[in-house]
Amino acid sequence: MTDQPRAVHLADYQPYTHRVEHVALTFRLAPRATRVLAALRLSPNPGRPGRHDLRLDGEQLRLIAVRIEGREVAARVDATGMTIPAEMLPEGGFTLETEVEIAPEGNTALEGLYMSRGMYCTQCEAEGFRKITYYPDRPDVMAPFRVRIEADLPVLLSNGNPLGQGPGWAEWEDPWPKPAYLFALVAGDLVAHSADFTTASGRAVALNIWVRAGDQDRCAYAMDSLIRSMRWDEEVYGREYDLDVFNIVAVDDFNMGAMENKGLNIFNSKYVLASPETATDDDFARIEAIIAHEYFHNWTGNRITCRDWFQLCLKEGLTVFRDQQFSGDMRSHAVKRIEDVLMLRARQFREDGGPLAHPVRPDSYVEINNFYTATIYEKGAEVIGMLKRLVGEEGYARALDLYFTRHDGEAATIEDWLRVFEDATGRDLAQFKRWYTEAGTPRVKVWEEWDGESYTLTFEQENPATPGQPEKGAKVIPIAVGLLNPNGDEVLPTTVLELTQDRQSFRFPAAARPVPSILRGFSAPVVLERDVSPEERAFLLAHDTDPFNKWEAGRALAKDLLARMVTEGAAPGPDWLDAIARVTFDEGLDPAFRALALRLPGEDDMASTLHAGGITPDPARIWAERRRMGEALARRLGPQLPGLIEALAEPGPFTPDARAAGRRALRIAALALLARVDGGRAARAAHAAADNMTEEVGALIALLEVGAGQEELVAFEARWGRDRNVMDKWFALQIAHAHPDQAVAVTEALTRHPDFDWKNPNRFRSVIGALSANHAGFHHGSGAGYRLVADWLLRLDPLNPQTAARMSTAFETWPRYDADRQGMVQAELARMAAAPGLSRDLGEMVARMRG
Ligand code: ARG
Ligand code: ZN
Repeated sequence: MTDQPRAVHLADYQPYTHRVEHVALTFRLAPRATRVLAALRLSPNPGRPGRHDLRLDGEQLRLIAVRIEGREVAARVDATGMTIPAEMLPEGGFTLETEVEIAPEGNTALEGLYMSRGMYCTQCEAEGFRKITYYPDRPDVMAPFRVRIEADLPVLLSNGNPLGQGPGWAEWEDPWPKPAYLFALVAGDLVAHSADFTTASGRAVALNIWVRAGDQDRCAYAMDSLIRSMRWDEEVYGREYDLDVFNIVAVDDFNMGAMENKGLNIFNSKYVLASPETATDDDFARIEAIIAHEYFHNWTGNRITCRDWFQLCLKEGLTVFRDQQFSGDMRSHAVKRIEDVLMLRARQFREDGGPLAHPVRPDSYVEINNFYTATIYEKGAEVIGMLKRLVGEEGYARALDLYFTRHDGEAATIEDWLRVFEDATGRDLAQFKRWYTEAGTPRVKVWEEWDGESYTLTFEQENPATPGQPEKGAKVIPIAVGLLNPNGDEVLPTTVLELTQDRQSFRFPAAARPVPSILRGFSAPVVLERDVSPEERAFLLAHDTDPFNKWEAGRALAKDLLARMVTEGAAPGPDWLDAIARVTFDEGLDPAFRALALRLPGEDDMASTLHAGGITPDPARIWAERRRMGEALARRLGPQLPGLIEALAEPGPFTPDARAAGRRALRIAALALLARVDGGRAARAAHAAADNMTEEVGALIALLEVGAGQEELVAFEARWGRDRNVMDKWFALQIAHAHPDQAVAVTEALTRHPDFDWKNPNRFRSVIGALSANHAGFHHGSGAGYRLVADWLLRLDPLNPQTAARMSTAFETWPRYDADRQGMVQAELARMAAAPGLSRDLGEMVARMRG
């Protein structure tokens, strides 16, 4: 056994011993032997009085030379870095030069400098820079960088502004001090899709999206999204861009979605490239959101960064919040909110309720890459949404202005963040801070009472135990409520109640018993527990003026029904069927909203809800009953569906805007239902007629769901076989929509497909990730799903630990299931834990999941 990797603790934070005043880097690129020369201008940090050794991080570097003020020194080198004893350092400032050799070609972890199909690129967040050169690789060390790249390639890019270039070389200078995790370098045979932007104060900015030849015609939407993001950040947050160029590069091999390197964002090509023929409406929406997200980081992340990685939510929660606001402004706030909450519940509530639960600001970690989670990102954004609700629009605007002026150029903390809100609004946020330090999803119970004159709502909050946190205090929970009278008129418009105690009551004058609409807009990331009759849910679905709660009423109706189908053998009745029918055909409602209302509750969501209610979920049974539910709905709506499908056909060429996308979403939902009663006839016709990927994939899924679509799959492969991004869909959807008894076999067959390039993270996720997402297939009673996923994680781990660790979260829900399944998952976790040479990444995840 190797040593147990050590945890890092927030409480141990100390400023760095030195300051880095300037960094000059030279790269002589070669696939197997790249030379990196670094010259660091260093001085003692007055924040750490006394004389200190100089410790630099460095991993997998072949050291050639170290010089201080031009003279060779003997540094102590170990597996994680180098130390130069204090005695060997000149007093005051000095220049340290290092020369190292690295091998980007062999870098399969895709962290540091690596190669993707002939192109050099980097990924340094969180701790990848230490695989490029010796450096204090921590976000609170910020410095201006100058970079020279030498390589016989046409395009050589780094951060900041171009200084000069010639045949085989280019130089870049980034004037804004930045932490090393924002460093980037790209070199390759690329072409640009370009545009210009002028900032509000008149700075001309050259915008480029760099892609492989042949992909230039798929950049227009990303460019349009970038321009809209830049304008929006000026208008809404008063934030302007601060360099002469903004470059984006699309890379096929990438562990995550994208990266906000200063002036040189690097993207997974999947989140840049789009054309109507190759990308779905969901792809377009994600591209818009991620382009915006990375751009917004220029202020929330780059100009103001994080003091240490425990503060990751400082930049990620805020930037997600900002990209959600942006998407809402560009599209529909109601629809965006519903989609965000669906995602939050599916990923973050799931995480918060299992062995991997951690606070939005954790206080220890083994491998920081394991903390780029839904909790840090999505719950981090929810916490900001609550803050905004509590202090109001104006208070929020004042606090943000103060944040930008007070902390520009700094590496800040959550304490700094909360202090700007306190200083700008006079509010005490000591109790609110628990949202950052305590994990777990609060459960809020509600009772109501009406005495003829007044109406009282009583709330009780319960904060469940999570790993390492058995007890926790009451949270500040903003609960937005409205009251309707029995005719459906609103008698109390949306009002925010502040729940701050374990139990609290709020009284309203009411001459008639009102119908409450509670947690409007999903005003806090909590689980609301209240016994509500199907009649009242149907009433709210018909009358609630809050679009989120209107949708939520329909969803709750469906979930109650599905739960009763699973546990008591109930059958879908008119209360649900008629209510959904009314919404589906209500022309006064946004088609995108109607499509969301038609979506059945997910199986994983259902399993979680049953488990929370004390029932052990049976995945096969949930799958079968959910299917029955869809069939009943199809029979109920069936006769009217062809008319709806017809009416929603979009004449004219494809446009990716929200209005057109919403109509397609409803049309596809209708096609999928109709397939259950017409054997797939309409879907097959729609598939044949489709001139865009949204309808092609939508119709194909409708067919796969009824056991058809094999011919269409063959045709799809024949048409798109050479397109990596499109083929990812082909792999994923056959697995995601496979019958539970066949999901493992389908996956196994696809792992033998010649194009199953499992070292490519997108392809790996499309296959192994798709199986993990097929709830009844992954949790199949045979245990074959668990085994196959574990086999592949073990295979990927030595090459790409980060992606292997991330995908291991497939196993995080095991405590919900029966003893047999629990035993089988535990056996797989034990098998992984015992694997020789298991990475720190996967090792930490497995250990936490085993508990
Ligand atoms: N900062 C990037 C983003 O959210 C994500 C980078 C994640 N990198 C990692 N190694 N986990 O925009
Ligand atoms: Zn981010």
